[in-house]
Amino acid sequence: MENIANNLLCCPECLGYLMKEDHSGAERGKIEALKCPSCLKEYDNSDGYYDFLNENGLLFRSSRDRFIRSVYAKVYTPVTNFMFLFCGGASKARTEVLSRLVLNRGAAVLETGMGYGENFLWLSRHAEGLKLYGVDIQKEMMANCSRNLDRWKISAGIVRSNAQSLPFRDGSFDVVFHLGAINLFEDRKKAIEEMIRVSRPGTHIVIADETEKAGRLFNVFTGPAEKITPPVDLVPDNMLNISLETIWRGYGYVIEFDTPA
Ligand SMILES: C[S@@+](CC[C@H](N)C(=O)[O-])C[C@H]1O[C@@H](n2cnc3c(N)ncnc32)[C@H](O)[C@@H]1O
Ligand SMILES: [Zn+2]
Repeated sequence: MENIANNLLCCPECLGYLMKEDHSGAERGKIEALKCPSCLKEYDNSDGYYDFLNENGLLFRSSRDRFIRSVYAKVYTPVTNFMFLFCGGASKARTEVLSRLVLNRGAAVLETGMGYGENFLWLSRHAEGLKLYGVDIQKEMMANCSRNLDRWKISAGIVRSNAQSLPFRDGSFDVVFHLGAINLFEDRKKAIEEMIRVSRPGTHIVIADETEKAGRLFNVFTGPAEKITPPVDLVPDNMLNISLETIWRGYGYVIEFDTPA
């Protein structure tokens, strides 16, 4: 795992630039926090990554939601790989989304909701010289992703944050994508606007998730849920080349568009 340079980060609350704060101390060890001089929020890195949610920030809808997410975090890879069998296999399913990214050497790539970091593995096998970054809302996912990055010897900067309120400065990334959670976001429009805000002008943005066909399969385990509608109507009108396509043998959709140059 890589330490993200402070010149990429900003306060997710007020978008102010952050200052480093040294909290070295006998009982805490060496902890370098980031502090926002504008709104005075502090974000520490005691778990080895900057945490922009702190203890209060995790938005579980209920204790049932917390339980389901925590179990899912533990069994994520085998369960996902099993579900991807319906879509033609995990590797094919990831390729169907990730091959749409424009991956030039040296590009700064951000994934919102990176989970175990499996897309970083795909990216490092299919392109060279990328600078990889990711955010996830769950501590378990952060820990699992760091472990995988160490195991795979992949360098990527990851932070804990909400995809609907990113801790990155405007125009920081050449490639921004999301795979697999936006259907359940509370504010999908804000998540899309945030992806746009942190993209450089002319960035090709890719967003994929399950369709209603997959949703109906999940409902067998999770009970009835809201009907899934791909959030293509939430992409702002000033974006270019907006498209919506069905993938994964009908179990997934992918939205693509370009930010104006
Ligand atoms: C289905 S997993 C997909 C993981 C990864 N993108 C992949 O393709 O394997 C969804 C991930 O999104 C994360 N997530 C859910 N809501 C989020 C939010 N509001 N902000 C950031 N991450 C979120 C979850 O913790 C989980 O790791
Ligand atoms: Zn602030």
